[in-house]
Amino acid sequence: MPPILTLNDGHPLPAIGFGLYKVDPAETEAVVTAGIDAGYPLIDGGAFYDNERQLGAAVRASGRRDELLVASKVWGDPVQSYDQTLADFDRSAADLDIGVVDIYMIHWPRPARNAYVDVWRAMIRLREEGRVRTIGVCNFNAQELQRLEDETGVVAPINQVESHPWMPQHDLREYHREHGIVTQAWSPLGRGRLLEDPTLIEMAERLGVSVAQVVLRWHVQLGGAAVPKSRNADRLRANLDLDGFELSEQDMARIAGLENGTRTGSDPKDRQ
Ligand code: A2P
Repeated sequence: MPPILTLNDGHPLPAIGFGLYKVDPAETEAVVTAGIDAGYPLIDGGAFYDNERQLGAAVRASGRRDELLVASKVWGDPVQSYDQTLADFDRSAADLDIGVVDIYMIHWPRPARNAYVDVWRAMIRLREEGRVRTIGVCNFNAQELQRLEDETGVVAPINQVESHPWMPQHDLREYHREHGIVTQAWSPLGRGRLLEDPTLIEMAERLGVSVAQVVLRWHVQLGGAAVPKSRNADRLRANLDLDGFELSEQDMARIAGLENGTRTGSDPKDRQ
């Protein structure tokens, strides 16, 4: 099993969870059930994915609610505000219907709206009320994270950002390390596109593992977390099985050499 990180709020975060972005609502219950059966300790959902009712139903049906961490995210349309965040949370919590929401995150900072600090204040309130255990953010840059800290005194425990060997985000990771923030990668496999990289293929062959396992092991060895996605039960299981091998310093350096700035998802500054 991948390691369990400790967040700056004292709560655990399993290094590997599985993501529900673009999982069709009609498929979600089966996908979540397969993930739980494969042993995933963390399920990364969000209101925008439009599958929270199905996610909650699968978690309840599993009978293992207490062993699982479930994350949700506030989207913030048409407005981002303190009150809208509380209202959006009520909807997600009702759809999930799993009691306390383990992790609740701001999906995008949308800096042009200049409202993310108010959203963060609402998140802090939800945590104080015990409706959410851990609050976090996604797609924040260092300056935006610093504003949360300066204006509320609450450092985000998690920042979920696009990260993979093409775009490792080393500078942001360094800021995170200095401030006790866990880097959690979305599209950790570059939406699957990294799996065709010849350097990684060669490394995986030498180590006797899959390319996805090499990339996920890289995330873990950087001290971060990741939420890979797969609709296939065997691949889901394999992506969680990262223990039997290690990347040497040389391997880590070769992977670092793959950085080329390629994004496989939206640039946060285009999300307003
Ligand atoms: P599939 O669902 O057919 O397994 P990311 O997590 O970066 O968004 O990447 C998800 C993509 O990577 C999906 O297209 C998924 O396809 C593919 N993928 C995930 N795990 C593996 C794996 N172990 N081997 C091959 N492809 C994988």
